[in-house]
Amino acid sequence: MDLATTLGPLRLPAPVLTASGCAAAGRELAQFFDIAELGAVVTKSIMMAPRAGRATPRMAETPSGMLNSIGLQGPGVEEFLGHDLPWLAERGVRTVVSIAGGSVEEFALLTRRLRGAPGMVALEVNISCPNVADRGLVFACRAGSAAEVIAAVRREAPRDLPVLAKLSPDVTDIVEIAQAVVEAGANGLSMINTLLGMVIDVDRAAPVLAGVTGGLSGPAIRPVAVRCIWQVHAAMPHVPILGMGGVRSGRDALELVLAGASAVAVGTATFGDPSAPLRVQDELRHELAVRGFASLADAVGLAHRRGARVSGAVGAHVAVERDESGRDGAPDTRDEAR
Ligand code: FUM
Repeated sequence: MDLATTLGPLRLPAPVLTASGCAAAGRELAQFFDIAELGAVVTKSIMMAPRAGRATPRMAETPSGMLNSIGLQGPGVEEFLGHDLPWLAERGVRTVVSIAGGSVEEFALLTRRLRGAPGMVALEVNISCPNVADRGLVFACRAGSAAEVIAAVRREAPRDLPVLAKLSPDVTDIVEIAQAVVEAGANGLSMINTLLGMVIDVDRAAPVLAGVTGGLSGPAIRPVAVRCIWQVHAAMPHVPILGMGGVRSGRDALELVLAGASAVAVGTATFGDPSAPLRVQDELRHELAVRGFASLADAVGLAHRRGARVSGAVGAHVAVERDESGRDGAPDTRDEAR
């Protein structure tokens, strides 16, 4: 089984990665398995300065999911460069460095500082953070600000360093955002980040998280991830996608691949099973083999080629019938009914 894959210019011998934020910089997982066997380790998003993150409690369990409001806790880029990245490089780990910033300038400075960093095979640009210069609006939720960040990163990054833009599902039209960041220079897309959620403790009549809202992850969001990957792959089949969102098994990973992901990251599952990323990779190999695939590449986006029976299956780009008055009607499901 040929599991090798590509994310634009990034060639990976294996298709499963860690999802940013769920395995710090890999050290914790290394006691459970050889992290160099994964396609790559994606680090927790790094910022210029050290950050303590939000007050606790900052995690809460939900039905089939988990809420977090960590607040981008991290050691800052200097500690990361002096301590974490060399450790990964010494072990031969391919590292995708996730970066986050409160301004376009911070993203640019981080990219400049990371130039030539050992073992770094790509940048993942986490644009799901508030823009301090623009009323705290999240970069990823507006095409213009998302594109501004990616253009700045692309300007500062070495030409041959792949840049992945990490998109938020909390938008009306994810294809619009995807198109904007690709036009701004992203080589590929990471989809999806968490969905904004909230839990209230009904006995205390108060929010559970100190930060009030948090990002929902885990199996509950997998159908959202599949839908987003499907929509973007349908609109831009040549743009590589690193898929993530609630993957717990090889079968889950295959679902994202069939929707259009060329590689898959495992996140929340790692909290319950630290060996989940490697296990999912082994299971994915098996799932492909029993279905007669010779390579992962043959499965990428296959569900599109097998045909969506519903003509409006591409969500925001749904083909809607218009009645005689010109008003939008229901999605055309006649094919399905046949
Ligand atoms: O709060 C956090 O550190 C989460 C970051 C993210 O979802 O990108």
